[in-house]
Amino acid sequence: MVQMPVLQLDNVVKKYGEREVLKGLNLTVNRGECVALLGPNGAGKSTTVSLSLGLSAASGGQVQLLGLDMATQGHLARAQVGVVPQYDSLDPDFTVIENLQVYGRYFSLRGAMLRERAIELLGFAGLSDRQDDAVSALSGGMRRRLMLARSLVNGPKMLFLDEPTTGLDPTAKHGMWDGLLALKRQGMAILLTTHDMDEAERLADRVAVLNGGQVVALDTPRALIDAHVGTQVLEVWGTAAGTYLHERLGVPLAELERRGEMLFLRNDVASRALERIRVERPAEVECLFRPGNLEDVFFRLTGRALDMQLNDGSEG
Ligand SMILES: Nc1ncnc2c1ncn2[C@@H]1O[C@H](COP(=O)(O)OP(=O)(O)O)[C@@H](O)[C@H]1O
Ligand SMILES: [Mg+2]
Repeated sequence: MVQMPVLQLDNVVKKYGEREVLKGLNLTVNRGECVALLGPNGAGKSTTVSLSLGLSAASGGQVQLLGLDMATQGHLARAQVGVVPQYDSLDPDFTVIENLQVYGRYFSLRGAMLRERAIELLGFAGLSDRQDDAVSALSGGMRRRLMLARSLVNGPKMLFLDEPTTGLDPTAKHGMWDGLLALKRQGMAILLTTHDMDEAERLADRVAVLNGGQVVALDTPRALIDAHVGTQVLEVWGTAAGTYLHERLGVPLAELERRGEMLFLRNDVASRALERIRVERPAEVECLFRPGNLEDVFFRLTGRALDMQLNDGSEG
């Protein structure tokens, strides 16, 4: 039996006026799978979420959620999924538990059953002792956990999380991750957008990189790292070190990827440079040899490094 994806976007186009934000985007999320959508600010991550939910109409292509065509049956699919939007949308006029109850009524949940469900979800979110507090009394991390609890009120088959941990401190972030990992273990399908590479690596079975209006890579974190970065990376600090690598060791400028003050070399180039650095011990070179990671993949695929070569006019 061929497994039907929970979410499937085929060749999806989205235009705002003349501007084409999505230019033929393909993406699937399978049952029990967490897919993380990465991409620079403005890449179209939130737009993809909103199109997946049928909250905004595609200008072309097809969106299917739970086997339903979102152009015509969006309301049926939306009733069966949960959403944590990018921006806080809790109701400040209601208490913590009332926020869940009010939301539950949109899904025709009522009375004692709704209250029981809300209490159970507050337990899951670690907010049981805050049940009757005003939402305004909650910390940022608690508000996010409440949004997560709220998204679960209708017993969803899939969750959409748009930057669920942006702006949270490390403890709060880990709190969210624990909740999401627990949901994953229960087989929840999840589409998550994030700028946090750790988050993507910890939570996602597959990572999609969005750039130029398309998914430019979609695979497991490991496979993406192997395909686009390789096993070893050498990080080097400062312009003087760059000059040493290029002029003394003959590392081609194209092999020196620059991100701000830091330079990155990969694979064979990295290990050859490291051998020479170990022998010559140049005073100007401070470096770190480490495994390739998802952030390296992000920089390579979103082209952020390409317009920042070492010789930005100042050298050979
Ligand atoms: N309602 C809208 N009207 C016009 N342009 C929009 C609208 N929503 C988003 N955009 C534009 O679409 C692009 C993608 O936005 P968005 O999906 O929010 O990106 P991301 O979530 O990846 O940061 C941005 O350039 C944004 O300005
Ligand atoms: Mg966004």
